[in-house]
Amino acid sequence: MRKIIIAGNWKMYKTSLEAIELVTLLKREVVDNAAVDIVVCPPFTALADVRDTLSESNVGLGAQNLYWEDSGAFTGEVSAPMLKDLGVAYVIIGHSERRQFFGETDETVNKKIRAALHHGLLPIVCIGESLAQREQNRTMDVIRTQCEGSLKGLTEDEMRKLIIAYEPVWAIGTGKTATPQQAQEVHKFIRELLGEMFGSDCAAGVRIQYGGSVKPENTKDLMSQPDIDGALVGGASLKSDSFSLIIKNSSDIKK
Ligand code: 13P
Repeated sequence: MRKIIIAGNWKMYKTSLEAIELVTLLKREVVDNAAVDIVVCPPFTALADVRDTLSESNVGLGAQNLYWEDSGAFTGEVSAPMLKDLGVAYVIIGHSERRQFFGETDETVNKKIRAALHHGLLPIVCIGESLAQREQNRTMDVIRTQCEGSLKGLTEDEMRKLIIAYEPVWAIGTGKTATPQQAQEVHKFIRELLGEMFGSDCAAGVRIQYGGSVKPENTKDLMSQPDIDGALVGGASLKSDSFSLIIKNSSDIKK
């Protein structure tokens, strides 16, 4: 059994006050929902206020990035112990925007995953192909390279703690969603790959989220696919009504 996990990646949106407003509404709307794991990932600056607003709720707290060293002269960076100290439980690692704009590679993603796990944070590891790569029929090769590089050297026990987010870059913020069939094809491939790397028993338990223009209207079709176990939601997680509808529309789907 894999429990569906719906996470909101707020990206660089929301001041602390705006964040408090959003989660105050959200926690009321999802208060009775025990069917789905719910996570919000605000910017660093809003983490403490969101934590306080969410205390005693069923909404988990995630960060959007971290640095792999625990401390040191690394101006502008935030470490795993700092996030842990704030009460953060999850951390997004290797989002395509970080790969594209901030030079992240499978190697740095691997270091960040290790740091997160070492300090008891649950990584949400993002992978996905660009439009050009899809058009050149290179999707599965790209996914294989990203998985092998990012997850290199992890033990089976460590892999069981990870969440993978498949986010085709061409579907992020574009309104173009992968069809449920297109997404399922890649999710199935990822699970088979994880099976090769960590054994099929481990692979069967890993949750693989889909991300890229997830909205209330397309949630059910996507989440009903056998290898799609949740969503990483950008734009539609910035409003409590659309995010809570996505959660509601996922709630009666069993894996
Ligand atoms: P959108 O849902 O806005 O397409 O963003 C997806 C995403 O990048 C989540 O990490």
